[in-house]
Amino acid sequence: MAIKLNDNYLNGFILDQEYSAIQPQVSAAHKMLTERTGLGSNFLGWTTLPDDYDKQEFAAIKSCAQKIQKSCDVFIVIGIGGSYLGARAVIEYLKSPLYNSLKKDTPDIYFAGCNISAASIAELLSICEGKDVCINVISKSGTTTEPAVAFRVFRNMLEEKYGVEGAKERIFVTTDRQKGTLKAFSDQMGYQTFVVPDDVGGRFSVLTAVGLLPIAVAGIDIDALMKGADDARLAYSDDCICKNDCYKYAAIRNILYRKGKTTEILVGYETYAQMFNEWWKQLYGESEGKDQKGIFPASVIFSTDLHSLGQYIQDGMRNLFETVISIENSDVTFEIPNDPANVDGLNFLSGVDLNVVKKTAMQGTLLAHVDGGVPNILLEVKDRSEYSLGYMIYFFELACAISGYMLGVNPFDQPGVEAYKKNMFALLGKPGYEEMKQKLEARLG
Ligand code: PA5
Repeated sequence: MAIKLNDNYLNGFILDQEYSAIQPQVSAAHKMLTERTGLGSNFLGWTTLPDDYDKQEFAAIKSCAQKIQKSCDVFIVIGIGGSYLGARAVIEYLKSPLYNSLKKDTPDIYFAGCNISAASIAELLSICEGKDVCINVISKSGTTTEPAVAFRVFRNMLEEKYGVEGAKERIFVTTDRQKGTLKAFSDQMGYQTFVVPDDVGGRFSVLTAVGLLPIAVAGIDIDALMKGADDARLAYSDDCICKNDCYKYAAIRNILYRKGKTTEILVGYETYAQMFNEWWKQLYGESEGKDQKGIFPASVIFSTDLHSLGQYIQDGMRNLFETVISIENSDVTFEIPNDPANVDGLNFLSGVDLNVVKKTAMQGTLLAHVDGGVPNILLEVKDRSEYSLGYMIYFFELACAISGYMLGVNPFDQPGVEAYKKNMFALLGKPGYEEMKQKLEARLG
């Protein structure tokens, strides 16, 4: 087991009988998932993905990653939401948020098409000047505005730099197998394409080409990532929360939610986990936040955010619970230096490994927050490795599906995302939206 759920910090918040009471609902959710009878059951491809993936495409991803590594200094990944968060989370988690500044023999990687910022696009274009560039545009629908705009910009840039033929060798497209304008356009242009499987939604797609190609370009072992996910798949097959920590996590979330704990804060103690938290927030927010229900997913990195949100968590409105990720075995140690003048009075820590201080900060914070009325779920993750991260990805995906079914929502759709798009298109004057435009403009005044 690469992850252990420690429930010590839930004492006083959840009674033993509450676990027994919720078990039938966990079992019902398990049944819906495994028998594919629940809402959104045509989007369950991710459940078997770590074992039952397209081996031929997997090999193509690896060889394409090598080709990209050899042919560029800068690799631009274009996508939004589930089409970029997983790759960025894994790269930053396993390499570093400062990956681009590290000494390495793999290309710098930047993410575009995940915002509507002229400043961001202009910055990236200037970074590309004088560099060899490849791009990977990732969009299941192929019509999402943000990545489509960025694709226009970077395709133009590549075509100006290398000519249309040269650009073809540098543009890689991850999209639907058959449908959509992006697939049709790629075939027409002769770009190499990778598949977002029909039955895998964006936020569950990190272990498909969506995540795996950029992750492999960063030099990360995608076999080990998949192996971790597959072992998690096998480990979490029993529906009893007495044996299944993944389901127990889903059960605890629902017990706490029903007691008014409507915000979950994912807590990391490593700066490299920041984007993983963002991936998790999208996974849970988009899966559960619907039908006027759902736990609001928030995140922090401690101890940094103990000096910003720490006050609120300790003392603010008591509608919170925390899920703390503790990486048990650190890959890096760092001894605190001695200061003969002991200016800061910290010489009692001279020679102490910073990991020890971090662990102690975590223990102190856990106890303080519990004393302040915040239930804490502690997830002890074995180490910072491809294997453990793959395991954790599957853990959270599976728990999300079970939790969503227990909440009574379809965890696999995202109808709410369309609302802003329609308004934006109408206000921008997209043909067909004329009447809506008038109504919206009247409201804007
Ligand atoms: O999780 C999801 O389904 C969404 O976040 C999508 O990934 C996101 O909206 C991007 O969609 P697309 O890949 O179609 O451009």
